[in-house]
This record gives sequence, C-alpha cells and structure tokens, in this order.
Amino acid sequence: MSALKLLSSNLDHLRSRFALIVLVGLIDSIICFFVPVALSDFTRSDFSTQHFLTLSILVASLYLSSLPLQYVLRKWGESFASLFASHLRLKYFRHLEQLPATRLLAHHSAYVLSLVGSVSDGLGGLCVEIFWGLTRTAVNLLLFLIFAARESTVIASTNFGILVVFVAVSTRLSFRMVPLVSELNHRRASLGERYIDFATNILTIRKLGIQTFAEQKLQLGTDSTNQQVLKVQAFHATRWFILHFLFGCAYLTTIIFMLSRIAFHGASPALLVLFVATFSMVKGNVERLSENFKTLFEVNTYTANLTAIAGELQASAPRPPATSWHRIECVDLAFTYGGQSKTIRVPNFTLTPGDKVLISGQSGQGKTTFIHILCGFFSPQQGRVLIDAEPAHEQLSGSTVVIAQESELFNISLRDNLLLGRQLSDELLNARLEELDLLSWIQSLDNGLDTRVGERGIKVSAGQRQRLNLLRGLLLDRSLYLIDEPTAHMDPFTEKRVIAFISKHLSSKTVLIVSHRPGFEEFCPRKYSFQDHILEPI
Ligand SMILES: Nc1ncnc2c1ncn2[C@@H]1O[C@H](COP(=O)(O)OP(=O)(O)O)[C@@H](O)[C@H]1O
Ligand SMILES: [Mg+2]
Repeated sequence: MSALKLLSSNLDHLRSRFALIVLVGLIDSIICFFVPVALSDFTRSDFSTQHFLTLSILVASLYLSSLPLQYVLRKWGESFASLFASHLRLKYFRHLEQLPATRLLAHHSAYVLSLVGSVSDGLGGLCVEIFWGLTRTAVNLLLFLIFAARESTVIASTNFGILVVFVAVSTRLSFRMVPLVSELNHRRASLGERYIDFATNILTIRKLGIQTFAEQKLQLGTDSTNQQVLKVQAFHATRWFILHFLFGCAYLTTIIFMLSRIAFHGASPALLVLFVATFSMVKGNVERLSENFKTLFEVNTYTANLTAIAGELQASAPRPPATSWHRIECVDLAFTYGGQSKTIRVPNFTLTPGDKVLISGQSGQGKTTFIHILCGFFSPQQGRVLIDAEPAHEQLSGSTVVIAQESELFNISLRDNLLLGRQLSDELLNARLEELDLLSWIQSLDNGLDTRVGERGIKVSAGQRQRLNLLRGLLLDRSLYLIDEPTAHMDPFTEKRVIAFISKHLSSKTVLIVSHRPGFEEFCPRKYSFQDHILEPI
C-alpha cells in the first residue's frame, strides 16, 4: 500500500478536518501570491495617486484576510500531524492485535513498533506538508506561470519546460533512493529493537555484569545505521546538486530576460524586483516540494517495509460476540515450529462443556504449544481443531481465557490489572485475594490495590504474579479455562491454596490444566500425558 493510499484510506473521522485545512491552505496561498501580483501594478507607466490609494487598500486587505487563515492553519493544520499519527498508531495496534500469532512472533515487537512509528510520524508530517507545501506550491506555480506569460510566453514556457524536467529528474532520483532508504529503515528498526530489548532488560544486564557486551552490541548497531545514513545523505546531496543546477538555469534565463527588457525595451526596473520576489517565492516552494517528494518516497518505503511483515492495514473487524460451544475436537493434529524442531502430535482429543482435563509431560514436550493451538494462536500443519464440527476459532475468542505460565501483568494498578474494566466491590475482591493469600501483602502496600505493578509486573514476586494472573482470569468469568502450570513458582503451602481455589471457583467451567506437579488429579478426572511429543490419554 502506498503512503498516499494509506493516508487517504485511513483519515476516517479526521477526513472533513483534513479537507477543510487543505481548502484554507489553498485560499491562503492564492491570497499570499496576489500581494506581489497586485504590486506589479506599481510598475505601470501610468501609475497615479489614485492607483496608490486603491493599491494600498488592496494589499492591506489581502494581507489582513490572510492572517486569520494562517491562524487556522497553525492551530488546526500543524496539530493535524500529531492527531493523524496517533490515530494511525491506534489503528495499527488494532491491526497487530488481530494478526495470527505466528506472524507476530516472526519479528521482535520493538522492530515492528519502530516501523509503525516511522510510518505514522512520516505520514503525519506529510499531512502538514500538504497544507503548507503542496497547495502553496501548486497555486504559486500556476500563478507564476500566468504572471510570467503576461510578460513573455517564451519565458513562461521555458520555465514550464525546466519545471517538467525538474519534476522528472526529481522523481527518477527519488526512485533510485528507495533501496538505500529501505536498508536505512531496516537498520534503524533493528537498532530500535536492540535498544528496547536491552533497555527493558537493563536489570538482567546488571545482574550478569555484561554492560560492556550490551554497549558493544548497541555501538555496532549504531555504526551500521550511521554508515547507511551517510550513504543516503551522499545520494541526497548529489540529488540536491542536480536539482539546484536546473533551478539555476530557470532563474538565470528569467533574470537575464528581465534585464534585457529593462535595458533594451524600457521596462521599469520595479518589474525586475517583483519578478525576483515572485520567482524566489516559487523557488522556495518548489524546493520544498522536491523535499516532500523525497519524504513521500521514504514514507512509501517505510509503508512497504511494514506491509511486508504485518500485511495491509485493514479496517478492523468488529469483535465477534462470545458464543457458546458444545464440543471441541482435535483430530490427527501435527504441529511443528519449522526447521529441526520436533513435531508435536495430538491424535485424538475432545473437550465438552464442564470437562476437567489434566495434561502432564516433561518440559519441552509441547504442552504450552498445545494450549496455543487450542486457543487459535497457532494453526496445525496437519489435522484440524473443530469447534462444533466447524473449523472456526472465532466462536472461542470471547469465551476462553488462557492463564499463561509466565504471567503478563500490565504497568497499571493492581486493581486495574485484576478488574480489566469490570466493576467489582472491594469486599468481594478482598475475599478472593484472601483465599489466594495475597490480601495481607496488598494491604501492606502504601497504595494498596492502587499500586502500579511496574513494567511486566516487576514489583511483584513471580509467585504473587502467578496468583494475580489466576484471579484476573477467574474474574473474566469465561466458559473455557486453559491454564498453564498454575503452581510453577509456588511453595507447597501456596500451591495447596491455589489448587483449592481452582477446585472451588472453576468447578462449573470447562478447565484444561497443564501441570507437571501433582495436586490436580482429584479435580481433573481426565488425564493425558505427552510422551515423545505425542499426547495420549493415561
Ligand atoms: N515460538 C516458538 N518458536 C520455536 N520453537 C518453539 C516456540 N515455542 C516453543 N518452541 C519449542 O517447541 C517445543 C515445545 O515447547 P512447549 O510447548 O513450550 O513445551 P512445554 O510447554 O511442554 O514445556 C520446545 O522444544 C520449544 O523449544
Ligand atoms: Mg510450557
């Protein structure tokens, strides 16, 4: 998807504001250009005191009427870049959120975010350029050519001809920049990925005492990015030189022509001053336009890079409502992560509402992978997961909770982490926390339930995180629970409480528990185990 197509198809609620600002920019450009055009009246030989009055009033009213338009452009036009960039970021979030897990996992999230940032900020910047640059340039250029044609059709067509060459050369050179810019974008995103990866794991770096290793890696990424910046800039400088040479040709031809009119045909020297003023204005505009062209090609490249890994930005589909299901069936499933990795097989597995299933097996057998296949993150290469005889995972999306082994808390308050937008009395919440032996700890915190848990819940111990994760899942109140090693980080006492908690509160639900620790046998009458990466009933 090209940048402009991406822009036009994602303006959404900002579309009318965008159209209004472009229109205001257009009117303002016309007004601004007509100031020197009106002044050209001054060069007429029969200029009189009466002309003086009319001209003064005209110039003053042109100038004054431009002021409120420029105010609008500054207030609404300049803020538009930021509004649009934020809007696009949000749309990309929705888009990424709906991507298949395998596609998401193929790239580090920081790499993808860096690309989303380049596209959003780049397109936002282009919006401003459209208000300030494109409309102004288009209007000024047109009016300049008309103005020049009034003096001489030859000089107007010479300028027009050089302009056409300018646009052609500029476009051609911009095309040739694409691979260089694409590589720079990739290197920048890789550096961003490495930086965020290390910066978010800065405590791990300190724990291991590997600051030198981390800095060297970052330096390598920085050097590689800088090298590419220099390559792009060298190309850019050559491009600038060629384009300015063309400008010089147009400028010199026009000025020499004007000088000859003054020297040999008795034209007023004031005409030269006005011509130089208008020409400079147009020159500035066209220079800016050529920069915009370059930016457009760059943003096009960023968009292509992002589309290659995340697909085209789609209008987000409405969330399917949670529907009930009666039977989940896995038949002859085979899944592999590719390369040399072992194939995980599930010959026959069925879940019906109310089932309680325990899956055990050694580490690395494929237990977590099976949960991810069941919830639709991964699609098996062979066999199918059927929900009520249909291969449709959407049915499950609103009725399932995956409670992962590594709990993933958000950096929001404990209360928000647990309730996720739902309303629940503190009384009930405290009762549940007490059952999981978390209440006295939370009450000891300065801000209690309003304490923010830090990045990925770093202020909370692994065992506490896992219990919070379990409670969060319980409060979501879904029909199917896929729980991965719920007691992995716990001492025997806490483990017992968690087993009792699950047995008490999830007795009416469908529950699949993965655990290699004893304790869930009573709660789960159906037992399976992974042997040689194959799931078999025990
Ligand atoms: N995202 C992934 N990409 C590639 N290989 C993976 C991925 N996740 C897990 N694996 C590999 O698949 C195998 C099964 O992993 P997993 O399902 O997590 O095992 P378990 O939960 O039984 O410990 C392991 O060898 C693991 O290294
Ligand atoms: Mg696992």
